[in-house]
Amino acid sequence: MSIKKIGLLTSGGDAPGMNACIRAVVRTALHHHLEVVGIKRGYQGLIEGDLIQMDTESVSNILQLGGTILRSARSDEFRTLEGRARAYKTIKDQGIEGLVVIGGDGTFKGSLAFMETYKDVPILGCPGTIDNDLYGTDYTIGYDTAINTAMNAIDNIKDTANSHDRLFFVEVMGRDAGFIALRSGIATGAEAVLMPESKTSVDQLITILKQGRALKKNASIVVVAEGDDVGGAFKLADAVKEKGFSDYEIKVSILGHIQRGGRPTCMERVRASQMGMAAVEGLINQRKGEMIGIIHDEIVFTPFEQATKHHSQINKAMLDMVKILG
Ligand code: F6P
Repeated sequence: MSIKKIGLLTSGGDAPGMNACIRAVVRTALHHHLEVVGIKRGYQGLIEGDLIQMDTESVSNILQLGGTILRSARSDEFRTLEGRARAYKTIKDQGIEGLVVIGGDGTFKGSLAFMETYKDVPILGCPGTIDNDLYGTDYTIGYDTAINTAMNAIDNIKDTANSHDRLFFVEVMGRDAGFIALRSGIATGAEAVLMPESKTSVDQLITILKQGRALKKNASIVVVAEGDDVGGAFKLADAVKEKGFSDYEIKVSILGHIQRGGRPTCMERVRASQMGMAAVEGLINQRKGEMIGIIHDEIVFTPFEQATKHHSQINKAMLDMVKILG
């Protein structure tokens, strides 16, 4: 039986490119004569029936915007059986026959829990998170823009670090993954990148910094992933100071949520559009319980269980690049 009406939501942390994905889902669905209902504030909006009918015009002029026009939320209620039952009621009352969810790890785990009870609602997911921490895709929506934002911010910090002979610990987002740290660190010539996937002791870090000083570097940048085991940039700076390191004046900068906003890059818009199209075509072709990804420029589908179990490996050769080039 062919599907006639789909629901669409964004959930979890917003990410630049989500709007491009929303636009692609709506326009592809309309192209195939499907009706699309936008669900506001993720699963919470689904529970509360906070819906909006979407047409071509409702996604006009959003491709270049950061954030998500559907807004987002992390719904505690959807974690409960009662919450999911209310969400199912909305779906049935509205005649929604399939869902596209755009989000990260938590979003897909929510879908999995829902599908365990309600097997008659097919769900496909598009990976939307700046963290790039999902298995089954080379890129998540938001990641490319976030690494460019982090790179630009660190470039600015380098200007002032050089003027004042300072060592900066710059903390970037990524939850428990180091993808943003590694890419932005390489792109800005950081002396070191500290991230959860590789262990660097404070002593090792001081050795690296001293070597740089001996090579007449007058400033240094250390990029720290927020999930690093030392516990963030402030703790790391304190630990380095406690060891008596005084070659530079030490400063800390936490980039924070600026990494989550901004105009999506060209590649972000293109990939988000590809994934949004693939999600609708997947539902039409009766796929369910899978995340759409892009691997080696090809669209691939990965079951939610696998996509959320572990993330792609950090490229070890890239980590070695930091040691040689930084
Ligand atoms: O998952 C995206 C992300 O930005 C992480 O990098 C970060 O740890 C977290 O979300 C921050 O979440 P919130 O915006 O809820 O503080």
